[in-house]
Amino acid sequence: MKNSNSTLERPGAAAGVAAHHAALSDSSFDDSLRHRVDASPARPQVPFFRPQIGEEEIAEVVAALRSGWLTTGARVRRFEQEFAAQVGAAHAVAVNSCTAALHLAVEALGLSAGQAVLVPTMTFAATAEVVRYQGALPVLVDCDPVTTNMSLADAERKLAALKEGWTPSGSAEKPRVVGVMPVHVGGLMLNAGALREFAARHGLWIVEDAAHAFPAAWRRDEGAAWQRCGEGTAQVSCFSFYANKTITTGEGGMATTNDARLAERMRLMSLHGLSHDAWERYSGGGSWDYKIIAPGYKYNLTDIAAAIGVHQLARAEQMRREREQIARLYFAAFADVAELELPPTDANRVHAWHLFPVKLNLERLRIDRNAFVEELKGAGVGCSVHWRPLHLHPYYRETFGWTPTDFPVATSVWERLVSLPIFPGMRADELAHVADTVKDICARRRR
Ligand SMILES: Cc1ncc(COP(=O)(O)O)c(C=O)c1O
Repeated sequence: MKNSNSTLERPGAAAGVAAHHAALSDSSFDDSLRHRVDASPARPQVPFFRPQIGEEEIAEVVAALRSGWLTTGARVRRFEQEFAAQVGAAHAVAVNSCTAALHLAVEALGLSAGQAVLVPTMTFAATAEVVRYQGALPVLVDCDPVTTNMSLADAERKLAALKEGWTPSGSAEKPRVVGVMPVHVGGLMLNAGALREFAARHGLWIVEDAAHAFPAAWRRDEGAAWQRCGEGTAQVSCFSFYANKTITTGEGGMATTNDARLAERMRLMSLHGLSHDAWERYSGGGSWDYKIIAPGYKYNLTDIAAAIGVHQLARAEQMRREREQIARLYFAAFADVAELELPPTDANRVHAWHLFPVKLNLERLRIDRNAFVEELKGAGVGCSVHWRPLHLHPYYRETFGWTPTDFPVATSVWERLVSLPIFPGMRADELAHVADTVKDICARRRR
């Protein structure tokens, strides 16, 4: 992993011919941003994220509304097929959130009480809570200090400690670790090959929390073929279409897999465990009759949401490239700012650039991260923090007795994290305002 670097590439398999991009240090604005300079001289308020909804999405939603079919139907089926083709998976099950996809995945894999799953502490609530839905134990794992992705070295340490008899408080018996749920933080994939070897060595399934990682890809080295996130990178890969994600349906998610049996179980459980889904029940060829096979959930996606999704999907790579361009401009703007550590890039990754997380070099600043965030907000710059690690939340601390020293890297790095705005359609004046504000805070608050 390099910290500010040279080339970002995309895979031939994912998006046509592999392209070499300009150096990140190139400070020139490209035309797509230049023509968007705001004519008004007033200081812009820059949101953390603004979804890019085109006329195609609006027309398709109107068509869905006019069609008389609002819930799961033909548009969802099309969205599933086109999404599966884009990531290179055999099956895709559309649901109403990534959380639902994660839950269906671990349910389909048979996760149950007495079992445990390795989950990064550096993640959103969803990754660990679905393990709790099944009555199982999330064994939290520390992160890499540069990428903040799950550390496989710490995962090995946690497994070794369990083997030696250690159990988190609250677990009555020694849990059996059956799976691992990596998160590709911000859209930078972790090393999928190393993860696969780790999982195989310990007999674990992989459910990938790919909420940030569409479209994204990795390769072992420059001579290796690209593999897209979802292209057999896990037993099940789970994507988010929440409002601020790389493509959106307002709320929504997708579970992809190459395993027909898992796909069938997830589809069944996504709609009450009924033998036929609503589409088959109500469409001409379906029967009024259905059988309840299992006590399922109500996780299906609507055709209204899929109407947005199919057009977002068609522009996914174009929007990724726009975010990549914004990242490149941030790298140029912050190249000499010693108070910031910029996010890592890697020539062997296609980065989805869902987030642009910087780490503050706190020893060079007279203010802490929270004050830095307040100053950004005061200047009209929306920002966020990804994340307060799970072990520092009351539920996980009190239920399982995790302490900050169990996760030294995440405990210290999260206090340095700030995610800056990055979204397609971000105007040049907005980007300049973010960059100027960040540099101004660093200069004024320099130690
Ligand atoms: C890493 C991660 N996993 C899962 C989710 C949950 O996604 P959703 O809101 O679609 O359920 C999020 C949402 O922000 C996330 O960041």
